[in-house]
Amino acid sequence: MSGGDRLRPPLTRPQILREMGLSPLWRLRAPASPLPQDGVTAVSGLDQHEPGEAHAAVPQGPLAAAVGDRSVEIAAMGWEELRQSVADCRACSLCQARRQAVLGVGDLKADWLFIGEGPGAEEDARGEPFVGPAGKLLDAMLAAIDLQRGDDVYIANAVKCRPPGNRTPEAGEIAACAPYLRRQIALLQPRLIVLLGRAAAHALLGGVGSLASMRGQSFSYGTSAGGGNIPVIVSYHPAYLLRTLPDKARAWEDLCRARALMRAAKAAAAGFGPGADPGAATAL
Ligand code: URA
Repeated sequence: MSGGDRLRPPLTRPQILREMGLSPLWRLRAPASPLPQDGVTAVSGLDQHEPGEAHAAVPQGPLAAAVGDRSVEIAAMGWEELRQSVADCRACSLCQARRQAVLGVGDLKADWLFIGEGPGAEEDARGEPFVGPAGKLLDAMLAAIDLQRGDDVYIANAVKCRPPGNRTPEAGEIAACAPYLRRQIALLQPRLIVLLGRAAAHALLGGVGSLASMRGQSFSYGTSAGGGNIPVIVSYHPAYLLRTLPDKARAWEDLCRARALMRAAKAAAAGFGPGADPGAATAL
């Protein structure tokens, strides 16, 4: 967390909801029907999905495709080596225009992992993800579900170097960075992954269609580090939400769903079993 963030007084819930364009009051609606496609079988809706159940099969896409010596080497790294390797990385042309690579920020024991697209200008300058306008909205979104940057939350990006002009990272760039993202997930072993936007969804799930079709589905990500399957949900990128205010309500639904999944996962881990938190689906 940056010093500036620490000094900022905490927002009240009405302020947070107002900032997200969600005031005065929102309730979680029933999820939309699943849209199975491209071989991905969706498990949609909180009551149909419990930790430990089979989630949708996830095509691993660039993460699975990224093989070879470099991947093997990265897969064995600890945090310090990873940080150094990312800082020195020249695996794709994004290294040419970056000021610095941006690995990620947050609690290394976080239950929550949020993954965005890639650093923008401010992130490139400061070396921390989501510190520009989109980051301000992300912080408000986190606060709306009683989370804050650095506390049980880790924030990463699909690519670690700024794409010139803030363009969307290309598939080859996402693939080149994939071993780093894979290693971050393996080291963190989060209980839940939230993918913000299409590039993040592409990085983790492969080319599985439009963002709209992925929202509301439950995916899982399997790590080889013995952590089992991690539930994954897909939501909008905060930068998109800044431009498209009506979709903030949908993002709020996604956050509520994420929080319910997290509560269920924690209840299951504590031995209370699936469905231990009957209020999880509707609690705001
Ligand atoms: N957008 C992202 O996807 N990531 C950042 O770190 C900043 C903006």
